[in-house]
Amino acid sequence: MSRKISRRRFAKVAGTAALASTATSALGSVASEPSGVSELRGSSGGSDTNALASPQTTGREFPKGFIWGSATASYQVEGAVNEDGRGPSIWDTFSRIPGKVVNNATGDVADDHYHRYKEDVQLMKALGVKAYRFSIAWPRVFPQGAGAPNPKGLDFYNRLVDELLANDIKPFATLYHWDLPQALQDNGGGWESRDTSKAFGDYAGYVAERLSDRVKHFFTINEFGAFVELGYRIGIHAPGLKLPPGRFNQTRHHAVLGHGLAVQAIRAKAKPGTRIGLAENMTICAPVIENAQHIEAATRATRELNAQYMTVIQEGKYTDAYLAAAGADAPKFTPEELKIISSPLDFVGINIYTPIYVRADSSSLGFAVAPHPKSFPHMASFWLFVGPEALYWGPRHVAKIWNVKEIYITENGCSSSDVPAADGIVYDTDRVMYLRSYLTQLQRATAEGVPVHGYFLWSLMDNFEWADGYTNRFGLHYVDYATQKRTPKLSAGFYKEVIARNGVA
Ligand code: NOJ
Repeated sequence: MSRKISRRRFAKVAGTAALASTATSALGSVASEPSGVSELRGSSGGSDTNALASPQTTGREFPKGFIWGSATASYQVEGAVNEDGRGPSIWDTFSRIPGKVVNNATGDVADDHYHRYKEDVQLMKALGVKAYRFSIAWPRVFPQGAGAPNPKGLDFYNRLVDELLANDIKPFATLYHWDLPQALQDNGGGWESRDTSKAFGDYAGYVAERLSDRVKHFFTINEFGAFVELGYRIGIHAPGLKLPPGRFNQTRHHAVLGHGLAVQAIRAKAKPGTRIGLAENMTICAPVIENAQHIEAATRATRELNAQYMTVIQEGKYTDAYLAAAGADAPKFTPEELKIISSPLDFVGINIYTPIYVRADSSSLGFAVAPHPKSFPHMASFWLFVGPEALYWGPRHVAKIWNVKEIYITENGCSSSDVPAADGIVYDTDRVMYLRSYLTQLQRATAEGVPVHGYFLWSLMDNFEWADGYTNRFGLHYVDYATQKRTPKLSAGFYKEVIARNGVA
């Protein structure tokens, strides 16, 4: 191979090679080297490029044994809403109200994962993921939320877990990812009622008793900060309520109480060695500038702005500022309930998409939130501002403030306006840019000793994005909903490379 190569030729070869290489690996075929790559090897002729380290050895590795995973949730992927005795959930009801979901989409079919889970496990295997975070649909297991169980419903998860283990993929199960049995909403107002917290604990214990011989990690609840706020205060998610503050704060309290009861029930019923945590979309407070005063402000802000969920779970008390601000509308609780809510956890899962930026302030709280300028970049979802340092500050605050020793990033990823190109490939270069930037910050955290043990990319494949229906795609695999064909996007090739290197690619 000639060691002398013109600049123009270099650029041409490099461009072709990059495209060929990413496209081939995105398609899962990495066996033969794409044309142009061998020409590039050893072609760096000039002494300046010789001095550069190979990008393969950038030193941006993650700790040994780091768990790379991907994630989905029952209502977003399963479909089969009327099969094998599943009861209706609040999302079945809500998505049928005209105008609540974009294009009046529902999860009736979604990704048909209920029938295609074996194919989907093969997608994971091709990526090389070591773990899969999925959720269990409560109304499959207890169609009425409580009372008589439906063994056929649990059987699906038995089959899924067995398939994962047969492929060397660790199952991480979430017990509540928003598909509340409709019967619990109808009788007592869902999470407005303490009975729902109790029913959730019972359901969690029932599932853990039957799956914990194979599932070693359970998450109680996914994103209090989303389903309670959007479903019971703002009304844009199921069950679509806009409760007044007092009733709403009580609903928040019942959600964290349900979490605590579930922790206790799992401990009581699961096999020894079962590990329990939660997956919360905490408000991630990044300091506007990384100096002592703003870091201190961001730390205070983290406790206060998560007072109603993560802070009370970690500390067993609501902050004074939260209770004072709520005044007469503060939740009613007993010391015994606070103890249940703060039952010790084995790990903390954080779903991280975007930060807020916090600065020091002379107010009594000691911090203020900086507004996003209009030009702040975001991904396809309007709320998904690009702030990679969220993956550094999120776990760092959790480790520092609450002395948490085991942390998972239970979701991170982004929506992109994915469209297959003429060659069939989805060139989601923006998602690759997003992931690379975020993972670089996560690597920074692990390199400093922040105890992050794993990362679950949202999502394995495009799916039902709640009120956005099927318009915003978050998957590593493009799903053609007409045919259910899954196609790896460019980002799937990127993630595969990250996993293989155990480092930022
Ligand atoms: C968090 C939720 O857990 C998940 O269901 C949702 O699809 C993603 N964020 C993206 O919005």
